Amino acid sequence: MIVLHSAAQIATPLDSGDFQILNDAAIAYDNETIKFVGPSKEVLDQFRKAKKINVAGKVLIPGFVDSHTHLVFGGDRSQEYLMRLCGATYQEIAASGGGILHTMRETRAGSPDELTEKALSNLKLMLKNGTTTVEVKSGYGLSWEHERKLLKIVEALKKQTSIDLVSTFLGAHDFPPEVSRENYVRQVIDEMLPQVAEEKLAEFCDVFCDQGYYSIEQTREISNRAKQLGLKIKLHVDELADVGGAALAAELKAVSADHLIFANDDGIRKMAKAKVCAVLLPGTSIGLKSGKHAPARRMVESGVRVALATDFNPGTCYSHSMLFMMQLGALLYRLNAEETLTAATLNAAAAIDRSDQIGSLEPGKQMDCLVFDIPHYGYLFYNLGVYHLETVIKRGKVAWNKNQKQG
Ligand code: NIG
Ligand code: FE
Repeated sequence: MIVLHSAAQIATPLDSGDFQILNDAAIAYDNETIKFVGPSKEVLDQFRKAKKINVAGKVLIPGFVDSHTHLVFGGDRSQEYLMRLCGATYQEIAASGGGILHTMRETRAGSPDELTEKALSNLKLMLKNGTTTVEVKSGYGLSWEHERKLLKIVEALKKQTSIDLVSTFLGAHDFPPEVSRENYVRQVIDEMLPQVAEEKLAEFCDVFCDQGYYSIEQTREISNRAKQLGLKIKLHVDELADVGGAALAAELKAVSADHLIFANDDGIRKMAKAKVCAVLLPGTSIGLKSGKHAPARRMVESGVRVALATDFNPGTCYSHSMLFMMQLGALLYRLNAEETLTAATLNAAAAIDRSDQIGSLEPGKQMDCLVFDIPHYGYLFYNLGVYHLETVIKRGKVAWNKNQKQG
């Protein structure tokens, strides 16, 4: 048993829906599991024999859950980003051979070893930025050979990082140039999905349902097949235009609908009723420069559970930092500090169907905890661009510390 005591604050959402801020607080944990959180004196009295670590002057929060990333890819699209800074749009760049298909070519050319090395170095950056669980999508292979290669790499990565990874099959991310759109949809439904299920290569199926990409009908058919095969549903929807994706996510009882920049009120109401989590991606939203951001306040007020994620990918958002997303999210979406921190932890855990295990500092949950050298949790938001993270504890072990090499 270990007790971290005398923390300036422990700030955490709770499964009850409340948000708890304890001053002069302690947390007791045994191996991977949290046993007690409370005032320091009470915890120290109760766990007299535990190993005691003084964290005076520090703030403790749950580890971040990044519930939407495209972690495994080859190559680099920094030039496209610079073009976007000069005014080119994401769609214009994609139409001229850039975008997802640019990364598809570089990913297909990458050997499993190269792609794994690159993903591992990005995971290290995520860990040192406080992320303890990451959802990872395939989607830059766009043929069964290469989609399988990516999902196999994720399986192998799970054994090489202290971060927990959750796999999502996103074969329907774009349309590859070598077959017709109709034929590719048939391949996804008739060939790829049954293989993904048989080899247990992913827990979720995702589709990029948007203007110029997968239609509502195609997305419905792919997702229904995935559900029949036992996969859970995530969707990229309404990122580029309002295509009615939010309502479709509700109809399909998706675990999450992501992006939602152009989501309409009817779709938001339906998502609330169907308990679909909204995963908002503020880095992508500002990067697209459409001048629109997801209607987060309307979602919160309608009872939708709102999560924040990086969307880490080489095109629309190259950021490893959930703290940056929190600071952006708070400002862009008019979310308060409690709502924002909940969005990066407990609601993000719900968006990957893990809220019973992670996302809050409560007895019975996994000990995934961040230690910050700040006097008050408000500094997570207040100190723009500077983060003061000292230690990342994953499953009860120090996985990263600012003074030592990664363990
Ligand atoms: O979530 N919208 C689709 N997929 C990514 C972008 C992928 C890319 O541009 O490479 C996203 O924004
Ligand atoms: Fe994405």
